[in-house]
Amino acid sequence: MRTQVGIVGAGPAGLFLAHMLQREGIESVVLEAQPQAAIEGRVRAGVLEHAIARLLVEAGLGDRMEREGLVHHGIGLLFGGAVHRINFAELLDGRGVVVWSQHEVVKDLIAARRAAGGDIRFEVSDVTLTDIESKRPSIHFRHAGHRHVLSCDVIAGCDGFHGVARPSIPPGALQVYERILPLAWLGILAAAPPPADELIYAHHPSGFALASMRSQHVARLFFQVNPDENLGHWSDARIWDELDQRLAGDDSGIVLTEGAVLQKSLTTLRAFVAEPMRYGRLFLAGDAAHVVPPTGAKGMNLAIAGARVLARGLTEFFKSGDASLLERYSDICLNRAWAAQRFSWWMTQVLHRNPRDNAFDLRRQLADLEHLVSSRAAAAALAEVYVGPPLERL
Ligand code: FAD
Ligand code: DHB
Repeated sequence: MRTQVGIVGAGPAGLFLAHMLQREGIESVVLEAQPQAAIEGRVRAGVLEHAIARLLVEAGLGDRMEREGLVHHGIGLLFGGAVHRINFAELLDGRGVVVWSQHEVVKDLIAARRAAGGDIRFEVSDVTLTDIESKRPSIHFRHAGHRHVLSCDVIAGCDGFHGVARPSIPPGALQVYERILPLAWLGILAAAPPPADELIYAHHPSGFALASMRSQHVARLFFQVNPDENLGHWSDARIWDELDQRLAGDDSGIVLTEGAVLQKSLTTLRAFVAEPMRYGRLFLAGDAAHVVPPTGAKGMNLAIAGARVLARGLTEFFKSGDASLLERYSDICLNRAWAAQRFSWWMTQVLHRNPRDNAFDLRRQLADLEHLVSSRAAAAALAEVYVGPPLERL
């Protein structure tokens, strides 16, 4: 088998890359370890930055998002028992974010791939990469009981943090920056109306909580727990009690309506960057190269923004032999990734109770939050980054 771009991983990065290449007439094969139903049902991120939502529309992927996604022009910060609104519309000339689930983005991308007759294989196993330093790198894999070798011009490693692409690069060739935080999020999806019309990020003496949503009838709720927490110890009733205390306690005015818990998950918070995002003919994209703590809602946005740059670089390379944008690919993406790291780190440390913190840190956090809601400049700085930077000029 032979293709121009072999893509490992059918998350937002791999699927968006395949889509943009296909529109330019560049061939690719997408290889995914999980079954299609599993990735279409995997609930993860839920907030699209303004420019990323526009990008999906321009790429012909916006129909359902524009019909069913929820445009938000602000978020609430809950601390000291009161909700303070950060009004994006007023601070940012009307720009906002779109609350639209990652697995819905993935569904639309898979449908577009199928409609275009693109090659996408689910449930592949034993994936290994060879000759990545050469002009003919290969992907070896097993699919439907047979072994295959896919010979490529370029490989895109879009296989997330635990994938095989990054470990295929000799360790000495990558500089890795990492912090695993002593924090985790217990998340639920619930058949219940969200407690507010907009997202609420809550600072509470018992720890962080976040009220998000997927629709007017489905709430997506998170709260901070210890990373070694056992999900089995969290009954639905205990989860609702904890959420109620952190979101609706202290007369915050928020009313939490309970409903059936549809999914439960535990996610350890991690900050990670591997530099550069290229080795020979292997390019890393999305979580394969960088992971941000989820507090800033940046992970999916970074994955799509990076895939856009890679698609453009590969298009120039295949159409005119010009590799100059590919040479800049890593620097362009790392610039955006570090900006997202800074913001996600800051949001995380100001809203979570770190087990290493003491009473001083609690007061410092409250002073930081008070500053945010009393200074227009501070609120505008948060709004600008949350709504997201413009796409890079390429
Ligand atoms: P992924 O979406 O991880 O896609 C990688 C794909 O590669 C997967 O489908 C995987 O099955 C596949 N794969 C892996 N190994 C192989 C292999 N060897 N061969 C073939 N395929 C392989 N971000 C937020 O902003 N907010 C959130 O609430 C949030 N929650 C998250 C919860 C979890 C449990 C995780 C893991 C991430 C979460 N994120 C969240 C981050 C966000 O979802 C990611 O940043 C985003 O998915 C990155 O997209 P990606 O395409 O780079 O990687
Ligand atoms: C969601 C996830 C986030 O990490 C975040 O900061 C906001 C919303 C969500 O899944 O809805």
